[in-house]
Amino acid sequence: MDRSAPAELLDIAVEVARDAAATAYRMRVEGVSVAATKSTVTDVVTAADRAVERQVVDALRRLRPGDAVLGEEYGAGETGPVAPGGVRWIVDPIDGTVNYLYGIPHCAVSLAAEVDGEVVAGVVRNVSTGEEWTATAGGGAWRDGERLRCSTETDLGQALVATGFGYDPGRRAHQARVVAELIPHIRDIRRFGAAALDLCLAAEGRVDAYYEKGLAAWDQAAGALVATEAGLLVAGLGGLPAGPDLVIAAPAALFKPLHDRLADLDASGGP
Ligand code: IPD
Repeated sequence: MDRSAPAELLDIAVEVARDAAATAYRMRVEGVSVAATKSTVTDVVTAADRAVERQVVDALRRLRPGDAVLGEEYGAGETGPVAPGGVRWIVDPIDGTVNYLYGIPHCAVSLAAEVDGEVVAGVVRNVSTGEEWTATAGGGAWRDGERLRCSTETDLGQALVATGFGYDPGRRAHQARVVAELIPHIRDIRRFGAAALDLCLAAEGRVDAYYEKGLAAWDQAAGALVATEAGLLVAGLGGLPAGPDLVIAAPAALFKPLHDRLADLDASGGP
């Protein structure tokens, strides 16, 4: 079997993510505190974020020597650059760190494998509940053995839409203005606090759609593949790929109306 085949990469991702989630769970039970702050005083890092990412990097080095790794806490500095045709792993050790800090059971380990810039395998595992979403490019999206299909909603006015906010106060203010203008035109908004899980919830229709400005690669790599494989369109504004400016994940019938509304509201603008 090709060592970089999506199914092989997914098997490794699942093995590593399960061990990582177990460590995050154990460390939460033992007690958690803020180890540092990053972009703002509310953008926290716990000892668990660092320990879990270290564990993931060490496991990948052992199982897949030569692959590159990009992580939220240690960046790309832990391994060498990705070789042409090589595999790069993208890891968010704990997506939903603020939920983790407060003991809200809604945070996840997110791990994706990218080949030549395309995410081909990904797993998102809820640290608290053990729910696990997986996907491979072309192989569908799955949760605990069940194939996932996104919402069939066609009316934006009936759509339950998840979103999130960045840590920068100026960005949050802009995002809040966008939400204030959007909410009269949809069923309601949900802000759960973990982007990777938002994308997985959209993949199984537990929300109809999701959008957010400011996501990093580790927030969305695995979740976006799960969402795409469940039938959602995942993209940015004006035909751009999903990225830091905006990620929109919506079923085909909702994508254009949501996209156009977000474009009118300058959802990718602001700081
Ligand atoms: C954050 C969460 C949150 C989203 C933020 C992310 P972190 O990731 O995914 O839901 O709104 O944009 O930065 O900091 O918990 O890994």
